[in-house]
Amino acid sequence: MSTKAVLITGANGEIGHGLVTRLTEAHPEIRIVAIDVHPLGKELKHKCHEVISGDIMDATLIDRLAAFYDFETIYHLAAILSTKAEREPVLGHRVNVDGTLGLLELAARQARATGENVKFLFPSSIAAYGLPDIATKMKTGKVQENEWVDARTMYGINKKYCEDLGRYYNWYYRQIDPQPTTGHVDFRSIRFPGLISAVTLPTGGTSDYGPEMMHYAAQGKEYNCFVPESATLPFMVMPDAINALLQLEATPAKKLTQVVYNIGAFSVSAKDFYDVIKKAFPRAVVNFKPDSLRQKIVDSWPADVDDSLARKEWNWKPEYNFQRAFDEYLIPAVKQRYTK
Ligand code: NAD
Ligand code: SER
Repeated sequence: MSTKAVLITGANGEIGHGLVTRLTEAHPEIRIVAIDVHPLGKELKHKCHEVISGDIMDATLIDRLAAFYDFETIYHLAAILSTKAEREPVLGHRVNVDGTLGLLELAARQARATGENVKFLFPSSIAAYGLPDIATKMKTGKVQENEWVDARTMYGINKKYCEDLGRYYNWYYRQIDPQPTTGHVDFRSIRFPGLISAVTLPTGGTSDYGPEMMHYAAQGKEYNCFVPESATLPFMVMPDAINALLQLEATPAKKLTQVVYNIGAFSVSAKDFYDVIKKAFPRAVVNFKPDSLRQKIVDSWPADVDDSLARKEWNWKPEYNFQRAFDEYLIPAVKQRYTK
């Protein structure tokens, strides 16, 4: 008999760090199988049942996992983020789309074999949106899930397509098979805003300027911000992002009418970040040196999101607004991190 477990891909990333920690705190009995191309830090390793340094594109590895484990839930976090995917679009497509397809197939095969649904949690992104220009973006304000979904980046296109793939696996997979199977992929996706963690630094993303500004200031390093002061995006702190994933995972399927949900916490400009960081670290030096090409990507992402569907269907509510995020989570934790 196979061992029941939870699979986390991209476990060494920013969300992975928070998720592995929170899952093991909440459910010490849980068996986590973690995969990442980069070896997991030792603080995470001992929390997992099995840790694999490997590539989600490695079909032999995925087959071996399928043979040993029955995955009840898959958190598929591994991805190439927006800036890196824009620099290496073919790699972005391979990992973000082909990698996701491989894991959806793993989930579908397991569901068919056991007759039990496999939950598939997929972190999508505000990059799935594409607003045509800054004037439209600022005039539009909060966007709903089905508005402005003409993604402009390879990463955003990949995320949007994987949402559609998830919808297919959830509702229409092999729809002309004469004998419908019992187990299926229970796909659930969140379009996350830019995430800010006090314990890890982002790499390869376009919303990285917010968290980078704070981590540089806390280390006494000068920061060149690649967007102008006015650049505005929705952001959220990592504890809220992890709460959202766990909350959506725990929601009974019958309450969910969609497979993709916006979630919001606060919408802020780069100047808002600067002001709060300067107050906490008065010697911080931040130079606004916009990179017009990366700025264009930020300009195409919404200033804010309408998350009323998530609030209604699975009681989503962030714990941290902007002020509380900095006062009670980010600033105390980064100060502690860099004074060790
Ligand atoms: P991250 O870059 O910190 O983590 C991604 C992890 O995936 C990394 O540890 C990386 O080594 C791993 N990885 C990449 N390619 C891989 C491969 N081929 N095989 C195995 N592992 C591979 O990013 P994150 O912030 O932790 O993001 C996790 C997920 O959430 C991603 O899907 C990302 O698109 C999504 N997301 C993140 C944000 C954000 O602001 N951080 C916002 C929206 C959505
Ligand atoms: N925050 C991510 C990025 O900038 C978007 O998902 O790539």
